[in-house]
Amino acid sequence: MSRILIIGAGGVGGVVTHKCAQVPDVFESICLASRTLSKCDAIAAQLKRKIQTAQLDADRPANTLKLIRSFKPDLVLNVALPYQDLAIMDACLAGGVDYLDTANYEPMDEAKFCYKWQWAYRQRFRQAGRMALLGCGFDPGVSNIFCAYAQKHFFDEIHTVDIMDCNAGSHGHPFATNFNPEINIREITQRGKYWEKGRWLTTDPLTVHETFNFPEIGPKEMYLMYHEELESLVKNIRGLKRIRFWMTFGQEYLTHLRVLQNVGMTRIDPVNYQGRPIVPLQFLKAVLPEPSSLGKNYKGKTNIGCMMTGVKDGRRRKVYIYNVCDHAACYREIKAQAISYTTGVPAMIGAVMMLTGAWKKSGVFNTEEFDPDPFMDRLNRHGLPWVVKHLKP
Ligand SMILES: NC(=O)c1ccc[n+]([C@@H]2O[C@H](COP(=O)([O-])OP(=O)(O)OC[C@H]3O[C@@H](n4cnc5c(N)ncnc54)[C@H](OP(=O)(O)O)[C@@H]3O)[C@@H](O)[C@H]2O)c1
Repeated sequence: MSRILIIGAGGVGGVVTHKCAQVPDVFESICLASRTLSKCDAIAAQLKRKIQTAQLDADRPANTLKLIRSFKPDLVLNVALPYQDLAIMDACLAGGVDYLDTANYEPMDEAKFCYKWQWAYRQRFRQAGRMALLGCGFDPGVSNIFCAYAQKHFFDEIHTVDIMDCNAGSHGHPFATNFNPEINIREITQRGKYWEKGRWLTTDPLTVHETFNFPEIGPKEMYLMYHEELESLVKNIRGLKRIRFWMTFGQEYLTHLRVLQNVGMTRIDPVNYQGRPIVPLQFLKAVLPEPSSLGKNYKGKTNIGCMMTGVKDGRRRKVYIYNVCDHAACYREIKAQAISYTTGVPAMIGAVMMLTGAWKKSGVFNTEEFDPDPFMDRLNRHGLPWVVKHLKP
């Protein structure tokens, strides 16, 4: 029986709170804290169970520490924005609490996706006897666990990994992002990057693309991008020769994005507007729909999975592991769209792994560093069933 403090009451925070509330044997007490208290209260009002809510600006470690001292959680689950990661990790160390998140830290003034800032906390978490689990959403998160599961059960060596993320859903808006618009657009507009034969190679943004026939969806154009799990998987998967990440985009989305970029609305440096500095991308976020508001009319499915090739007992093998998630089914269950759902469910399962001791070590870790089996079992039980296909190599 444990106490969990969830930080961030957006699309993902709503899913995490609903899903934790569904598992009372692990999550005895839940507190949802975020910058805007009314958003926490609105989520709390949807639940059959009573939970606590709190207003919190997590940019300052002292604020989070104060809440940790009053609520006394066993784990802090951070689904606010990546900007808060280090401040919340500092508060967890000061308060003697374990930590989990779904997206790696990035400084506000530089859209740089790497684990170096958070991996630098390893020694401090180890010495404090505390655990931090990084990137425990779907991708990163489940994508890493699919690789660990394949490494454990199907391969002696995995030689190639292609992580493929397809959202074939339609929310009815001409342009909206499925998770925080600022973070999403920073990610998509960066240069593409993949790893091959021991070195990183880069491409111009969204210039390399292929068609893939996604199960339950059909053929879709997917674009090579950089994604943070590549950095940890390169270190933790045996025998790897190449790893890439792909995401699908519709033409309508790409056209809007190109126009917004061309007119300067995706800039992350401040510009002077009527005598005061504003960041165009932050202003754009303010006029776009909130991710948590998209669920109601969302139709269609997502398919996220890993295509892997390698060898087992001297023979070549090819394995595809994926999950399909239906937007409308997520909305029926907990009023969420599938991108928030596929992120929030693994975050809740990661918390179960830590709080039940199934995953327990001192230090800072990525999800592929633990036994994937109990996590994979929970995915089937909590709404994200997966499929393994053995294909001709
Ligand atoms: N690994 C994955 O698969 C994956 C996939 C999607 C998303 N993500 C990550 O999940 C996180 C949440 O995404 P989302 O779609 O839920 O975004 P969102 O809807 O924009 O929600 C973010 C929430 O964080 C709150 N927040 C922002 N700054 C805060 C601060 N200083 N202190 C306290 N709360 C603060 C926001 O408060 P306000 O409402 O007051 O602004 C909002 O409620 C992001 O980090 C995103 O990168 C991971």
